[in-house]
Amino acid sequence: MRQNALMFEFQVESRDGRARVAQFHTPRGTVTTPMFMPVGTQGTVKGVSPQELLDISSQMILANTYHLMLRPGEGLVKAHGGLPGFTAYPGPFLTDSGGFQVMSLGHMRKITEEGVVFKSHVDGRMVDLSPERSVEVQEALGADVIMAFDECPPFPAEREYIGSSLERTVRWLERCLTVKSRPEQALFAIVQGGIHLDLRERSLELTLPFHTPGLAIGGLAVGESKEEMYPAVAFTAQRLPDDRPRYLMGVGHPEDLVAGIALGVDMFDCVYPTRTGRFGYALTHDGRLNMNSSAPRSELGPIDPECDCYACRHYSRAYLAHLVRAEEMLGPRMLSLHNLRYLHRLVEEARQAISAGALQSWATTWARRYFKGSI
Ligand code: GUN
Ligand code: ZN
Repeated sequence: MRQNALMFEFQVESRDGRARVAQFHTPRGTVTTPMFMPVGTQGTVKGVSPQELLDISSQMILANTYHLMLRPGEGLVKAHGGLPGFTAYPGPFLTDSGGFQVMSLGHMRKITEEGVVFKSHVDGRMVDLSPERSVEVQEALGADVIMAFDECPPFPAEREYIGSSLERTVRWLERCLTVKSRPEQALFAIVQGGIHLDLRERSLELTLPFHTPGLAIGGLAVGESKEEMYPAVAFTAQRLPDDRPRYLMGVGHPEDLVAGIALGVDMFDCVYPTRTGRFGYALTHDGRLNMNSSAPRSELGPIDPECDCYACRHYSRAYLAHLVRAEEMLGPRMLSLHNLRYLHRLVEEARQAISAGALQSWATTWARRYFKGSI
């Protein structure tokens, strides 16, 4: 059940305040943190090919247990040798455990000590998901990092509910670890507790003794304000083990990555860059650009002259705005590719700033420009 400590070694290379740069070793390769993980919910990062992901320096891809167990079923993925064989993305994967998706997609029918029962969004049948079943599916999918089956309460939720839910999440963690059988996969625990610091403390107290090879901060970015989210991240990250990766789930926007990195977070994932790209928005050093607005339609320069992605090297804003308006599929594809590259470059710049001991001044300079340019 326990994996070789060296298989998932986390070597911190440099530090600046609470932030750190580290090498995280996984069976499918070593990644450098802080990193942003593109979301490939259904075994594909929407509109972006594996080669394109490699070209923009993606390191680890997130996939979802919930979606893949319903369609095409984990058996088919396993028959391809797991996610890398199925998707042709050769690098490391992380799978989320499914509980969050069941709840956020709103098909939840019943949550009990045993697990959750929900209605499939694919064919309407009733499906069970439990800690044991989640680990079974995640072992078949074969990601390098798998997540504990947890409950992420909605926001807002009664404090009392969040308190009892986090205790159940710990009992579910224990069940996940009991059935876990593949040493080449690292199972990360998830700390819950919403925006209540005393509940975060309780969750940490119960979760840390399991000594999982990495830990996630869950239950955030679910509708609370940034003024509520950041203190919860700060409080939790500071109390997580220094020698293991810290993963802030479902975050986020560029400013959240910058803030999270400064607070000691190592891993992030979010649908934001690809989703906002599909909606016609491009992230630039001068803020988010709406390609549906009138200005870009006549601009002959690239989305972001400082970006080295395929879209910025080959296309003008005017051409991409044309594609978006004409509803040509290359438009959202190129905006997704560019936005992912923007976030990879952002965390790369943050890593360089940490190594140079200049994270704070870099972050201030970045934010001043990003928010001044925002429309
Ligand atoms: N994705 C975003 N937040 C969460 C969370 O709290 N739990 C899980 N499993 N996934 C998430
Ligand atoms: Zn670009």
